[in-house]
Amino acid sequence: MNLIKKYYSPTNSQLGVGGGGKSVSVLSPATVANVVCGFDILGFALSNPNDEVTISISDEVGVQIINQDDFNLPTDPEKNVSGAALLAMLEECPDVKGFTLISKKHIKPGSGIGSSAASAAGPVVAANYLLGNRFSKEDLVRFAMFGEKVASGVKHADNIAPAIYGGVTLIRSIFPLDIIAIDAPELYVTVVHPQIEVRTADARMILKQNVLLKNAIKQWGNIAGLVAGLIKHDYDLIGRSLEDVIIEPVRSILIPGFNEVKSRCKEAGALGGGISGSGPSIFMLSKDEETAKSVEKEMISIYERIGLDYQTHLTTINQEGVRLL
Ligand code: HSE
Repeated sequence: MNLIKKYYSPTNSQLGVGGGGKSVSVLSPATVANVVCGFDILGFALSNPNDEVTISISDEVGVQIINQDDFNLPTDPEKNVSGAALLAMLEECPDVKGFTLISKKHIKPGSGIGSSAASAAGPVVAANYLLGNRFSKEDLVRFAMFGEKVASGVKHADNIAPAIYGGVTLIRSIFPLDIIAIDAPELYVTVVHPQIEVRTADARMILKQNVLLKNAIKQWGNIAGLVAGLIKHDYDLIGRSLEDVIIEPVRSILIPGFNEVKSRCKEAGALGGGISGSGPSIFMLSKDEETAKSVEKEMISIYERIGLDYQTHLTTINQEGVRLL
């Protein structure tokens, strides 16, 4: 972190960006990264659950963090996902001394539905409103990726980009950023979160570093098929393409009941699905709400039988991303 800018001293009011007690609150959505075959390059935002974030400009230097939930997350901004994202933003705001952040998380850390991305995306979008929307969405993704780095050790944007842009996004590249919004059809999403924690950093560490060519061919066929299916609103093609021959075979062993959830939900009519992000949540896509409800029943019956606590979400794709409260 650049210490000169971090300790920049004029007051906000001297520089025209007043603290003045003004604050902005946003809802920052959960997201599903990877979307089965698109490891690190595809993601979509969920209508529920959301974190609540309130930001104000402060006359104190740096980022003050107030947590109003029970997750006990660090308040040192350099070790906190939201703090790291806001510090990256401050580096490019010589007229602002600092921010105060109040965070009320509803998305459990380690659940696999983009908890850290919601923590990173919400604050930078809210801060940008306070600053007159001086930054582009792409800039906000760039700042928020500093938060993801704190969470998982590497920058990736497949949760952050959909959280900020809404809808389904393809991240063709992160260096330089190349984000493509995909016009997907209406889809219902059922998510089950078996109550175990899988840290993204651990779930990345177990991945193989080499891929067989025959698997790579299958995977890029599926990614292309999924993107084409989404754009053409071709539900059958979407369903056929929801297959992962590279990441899922390794990570799914960490998730009790995974294979059964997948097969029974498909029998119940889901188009397909798989691990949400790095897990342990599992998501399924359905064409209509009735099917999504049947899928939820299957998920519930499996985890009741296994005897593992779980939480389900029946929701849709959130087209808006982070939104003002
Ligand atoms: N693409 C990332 C991973 C998403 O699967 O590790 C983490 O939410």
